[in-house]
Amino acid sequence: MWWEQAVIYQVYVRSFQDTNGDGVGDLPGVTRRLEHIAGLGAQAVWLSPIYPSPNADFGYDVSDFCDVEPAFGTLEDLDALVGRAHELDLKVVLDFVPCHTSTQHPWFREHPDYYVWADAPVNNWRAAFGNSSWGRDEQTGRYFLHSFFPEQADLNWRNPEVREQMLGAMRFWVDRGVDGFRLDALDRLMKDPELRDDPPATRPFELPGDAADLELDHIHSRNAPDLGDALQAIRRAVGDVLLIGEVYLPIEEAAPYLETLDVVFNFEELFAVGDAAKLRAAIEAGLRTGGQGWVLSNHDFSRLVTRAGADNARAVELLLLTLPGPVFLFEGDELGFADTPMSGPELDRNHRDPFRVPMVWDSDAAHGGFSTADPWLHPDQAAAEGVAQQSADPTSVLTLTRQAMALRPRLAANETSLIPSAPGTIVLRRGDHIVAVNLGDSPQDAPPVAELVLEARPGDGADLRVIPAHGGWVARAPA
Ligand code: NOJ
Ligand code: CA
Repeated sequence: MWWEQAVIYQVYVRSFQDTNGDGVGDLPGVTRRLEHIAGLGAQAVWLSPIYPSPNADFGYDVSDFCDVEPAFGTLEDLDALVGRAHELDLKVVLDFVPCHTSTQHPWFREHPDYYVWADAPVNNWRAAFGNSSWGRDEQTGRYFLHSFFPEQADLNWRNPEVREQMLGAMRFWVDRGVDGFRLDALDRLMKDPELRDDPPATRPFELPGDAADLELDHIHSRNAPDLGDALQAIRRAVGDVLLIGEVYLPIEEAAPYLETLDVVFNFEELFAVGDAAKLRAAIEAGLRTGGQGWVLSNHDFSRLVTRAGADNARAVELLLLTLPGPVFLFEGDELGFADTPMSGPELDRNHRDPFRVPMVWDSDAAHGGFSTADPWLHPDQAAAEGVAQQSADPTSVLTLTRQAMALRPRLAANETSLIPSAPGTIVLRRGDHIVAVNLGDSPQDAPPVAELVLEARPGDGADLRVIPAHGGWVARAPA
């Protein structure tokens, strides 16, 4: 399958490239920059939601599943993007949002039975961004379920009409030539039909979340046992296109989703990059489970450089890019973006603006070459040096990214295993290559290797008998 060892590049459309001078990135901008993505060595591009949206959650509150957000362009622009991507041998993955619609979607008034209603908040379920999952509809005085912002009403997937509508929307895009979907918030797709309370948690949840929500054991508010039926209906509707699940669960609990989906994101890894032991454990569990999408960063959480720490970021990036795929690279990861201090009003109520700042194409151009106009988000400073500047620098993060991605085909067919190593280090064997990184403060012994292939930082491979502090390398294993 094309995606098995793929690097999938995530484009946050609003922040990638503006072409019409309104300060908002658009689809023609993505098309214009596809050569950058192909030139990195990626196999696919994942577009953050492109549908019309009132932007309470910047595209994740959809008001029409079969059209393009006017600020991003038109259906014809999407067709042109898909056509150009395919010419460049890039697949196109759309972000699809099955769990909820905008409360501005016409369905919310015309088909209230598509949603979940009650006369009062009937249970203790919590929304992911805080507060009760029950929102009051001012027009009717009744309450509707929302797992995220109150502008995002949860669809009732137990209503067959809802299913047909959503499956039809996915087929609409497959017919236009898209090669896969990233399915949003899947653990929230199916809930307890009796709407029973979540009981108090008896053990810690491994992933970060809203404090009050973490006190509950989410056995009813999400992840209902018949979820597989819905997933299989999706699979039947779309055929064998790539299905990536955004399942916000620890690795083992997300595993059942892989009965139907091809890939789930490994969120444990994403949150573990600051701690070598935890990161190693997440990789080990992921390799055992299979079907893992390794994520450098995305539009929801702090950037890799911020989570891993500036000291260790290059070593962690090298490690993640050498894992058996698929790997998800978020725009700006290739330049080493860190969370960016912002000026101006906060636009995302869940504080995610610092990870979503515009791409920097050319540090010498106005607004980094992103737009001729004032961009929709206002970073205090450029998130990193631009593509033009880093391309000319053999020691840049961009050069490291390109080199690590170029190496992947040589690693692809090889068996992967973790080799026991000193605390603070992670050593991976991929057939005849050894990847060794050290996130600790002192150099550690390395396993025997033959010859240096790639260094995380210039000089890291000077003495291959050690894995340098905060560094690492890829080398050939002894014959
Ligand atoms: C996960 C998306 O990645 C995030 O950006 C969004 O806010 C929620 N799902 C709700 O759709
Ligand atoms: Ca624009």
